[in-house]
Amino acid sequence: METDMGKMEGIRAAITGASSGIGRATALRMAKEGADLALIARNRERLEETAEAVRALSRKAVVLEADITDPQQVRNAVDEAVRQLGGLDVFHCNAGIYLRCEAKDLRMDQIRKIMEVNYFGCLNCVYAVLPLFLDQKKGTIVTTCSMDGKKGVPPDAAYVGSKFAMNGFFQVLRQELRGTGIHVATIYPSRMDTPQIAHVDCPRITPKGDPDLVAKAVIRAVVKKKKELMVPGFSCHLLTWADAISPSLSDWLVRVNGLAGSENGTAPINEAR
Ligand SMILES: NC(=O)c1ccc[n+]([C@@H]2O[C@H](COP(=O)([O-])OP(=O)(O)OC[C@H]3O[C@@H](n4cnc5c(N)ncnc54)[C@H](OP(=O)(O)O)[C@@H]3O)[C@@H](O)[C@H]2O)c1
Repeated sequence: METDMGKMEGIRAAITGASSGIGRATALRMAKEGADLALIARNRERLEETAEAVRALSRKAVVLEADITDPQQVRNAVDEAVRQLGGLDVFHCNAGIYLRCEAKDLRMDQIRKIMEVNYFGCLNCVYAVLPLFLDQKKGTIVTTCSMDGKKGVPPDAAYVGSKFAMNGFFQVLRQELRGTGIHVATIYPSRMDTPQIAHVDCPRITPKGDPDLVAKAVIRAVVKKKKELMVPGFSCHLLTWADAISPSLSDWLVRVNGLAGSENGTAPINEAR
């Protein structure tokens, strides 16, 4: 298996959502590979925990409190990351929220909130870092989308909408930025074992994965300039191929395999936070 050991030596990366789950796993994996990091999220205490773990790996960690739905806070975070790290090479748009609710029961304010964080929040990050990357004629923007941005699975309509929007925007962005020196990569994880979906049990055929698998994919996308990576590869590719052949076939695969999963009674963190 490819490890890319030390391949991020000298790279300065900012990660949103670095206080938890995939963002934290990516911070630790990037630090192991030699990167210095700017860690962005709202909760300082949890960011400090990630920072301590990064520093224990002898890499620099800058903690930057910011809400990605506020463009000014994101711009300030980018400026501060550049100032404290001496520049920026990679921006990982990763922060996001999840909502599990059947479409018929969704309220418009819930749908707007999830779009505000997952889609517009991500774009606030893109537009905060893009001028810098265009100016220096290099940089990588990598985003954590979701397999829900390739094939919608019930009961996630609001979340799926936000991830399809991200998927579409980044597909265009990467084509438009071709030749500018800026690389754009999108990662599509299946369900991962993070606080975001602690209240969801998955079927045995698609158990929750270790968020470090996503972290490794992010690094691979940065180092090998991959455009799109699904995690895990095989089952995700199978579902998208099935969907390309026939939506009825992929709907059937979702249904017979119980890919919707079920709630286990744990309080969802979106409500808890
Ligand atoms: N877990 C999965 O199965 C899975 C699968 C596919 C894709 N994803 C995607 O992967 C990304 C990371 O999710 P995760 O599973 O690691 O979830 P998580 O453990 O809940 O982490 C989410 C992170 O996003 C941050 N965040 C949320 N709202 C924010 C805001 N308004 N401003 C700044 N930061 C904010 C949170 O930090 P604070 O609360 O401190 O701000 C936290 O660090 C998300 O985009 C998610 O949709 C997850």
